[in-house]
Amino acid sequence: MSVSEGTGDARYIEEAVRNAIEGAVWAPSVHNTQPWWFGTAEVDGGVRVTLYADPERRLAVADPEGREMVVSCGAALATLRLGILAAGYVPEVDIVPDSEKPDLLAEVTVRERAEPPPEAVRLFAQARDRRTHRGAFAEKGPPEYLMSSLIEEARLEDADLRVMSDPRKTRALGALSDAAEQFQRLDDRYQAELARWSPGSGSGRRDGVPDTAYPIESQETHPNFPERSFRHGRAQGMDVGAEVPGETGTVCVIETATDDRVAWLAAGQALQRVLLHAAADHYAAALHTQALEVPAFRELISGHLCEGHHPQMVFRLGRSGPIFTSIRRETSAVVFRDPRPAHP
Ligand SMILES: Cc1cc2nc3c(=O)[nH]c(=O)nc-3n(C[C@H](O)[C@H](O)[C@H](O)COP(=O)(O)O)c2cc1C
Repeated sequence: MSVSEGTGDARYIEEAVRNAIEGAVWAPSVHNTQPWWFGTAEVDGGVRVTLYADPERRLAVADPEGREMVVSCGAALATLRLGILAAGYVPEVDIVPDSEKPDLLAEVTVRERAEPPPEAVRLFAQARDRRTHRGAFAEKGPPEYLMSSLIEEARLEDADLRVMSDPRKTRALGALSDAAEQFQRLDDRYQAELARWSPGSGSGRRDGVPDTAYPIESQETHPNFPERSFRHGRAQGMDVGAEVPGETGTVCVIETATDDRVAWLAAGQALQRVLLHAAADHYAAALHTQALEVPAFRELISGHLCEGHHPQMVFRLGRSGPIFTSIRRETSAVVFRDPRPAHP
């Protein structure tokens, strides 16, 4: 039976898919590039959603291999799956490791009903409201029991969450992040790319990092993990008050055993589960990938701080109020009926 012949379930499946995609577009992505497409097609008794990377949104300078682009798509995929589960359907997921079709990342078929797992409902409820934090935290990072749950979340997705509990290692990671940031400030091509993804006040754009997403003045933490220079010297950003306690929070790395497209997608899914779980417990994350964009630094981090595993994301967790806001493209701009038009 085709979904359009409809037992009534067809309508519910389509609604569940639409709702899940509407949540998935709020996944984090590097520079808020939102480097994804979702193709939908009717299949026997259900709907298939195909997740594609959008290479035109890849950061050619900061991310030449597309690693961060695929990590971002992984975060969207995790949200899509959670949305489908939360609506009472089973997402049948096929990861597509096909190097002949590098943009095609995963197919998710939705047809079987299932009781919504309460954890999926809890995590999906955070999909739109979770925000990236920038700057210092008001308090220290999450308690141990929550960190253990976050480690479990990452494992569910075939990735590891490493907690940097040795202060010497945290300082080393902060120092490398700072050095990477300083080198990137010297690199005109890098800065030009960052400027393209940092819309100024009132630009009306629906992608990139808006001035409502960072404080008007960058905040130091001890040890310091520098912010990216989204301001470009412009006096813009959110007024978050003068007194900042300067807490770094808990420093973490998402890492994987291998370093290919499948591992990057897994890392993105792990990241999003961790971020949503933390958000449900009122903790936010500040993401810092500058050091992972410098191959020599990434290698150092792998060898000296991650026991040879491949670092995919560096972030700090802590408490923050609902200070920042972000933007997204309309869902209709990223969803197409499969087969996808060549240049939509
Ligand atoms: C792979 C990846 C790398 C990122 N790197 C950074 C970073 O180095 N600095 C930063 O401030 N935010 C970073 N972010 C966060 C994005 O800028 C953020 O997700 C995006 O602007 C959307 O905002 P939101 O997360 O508040 O919805 C990264 C996100 C991803 C997925």
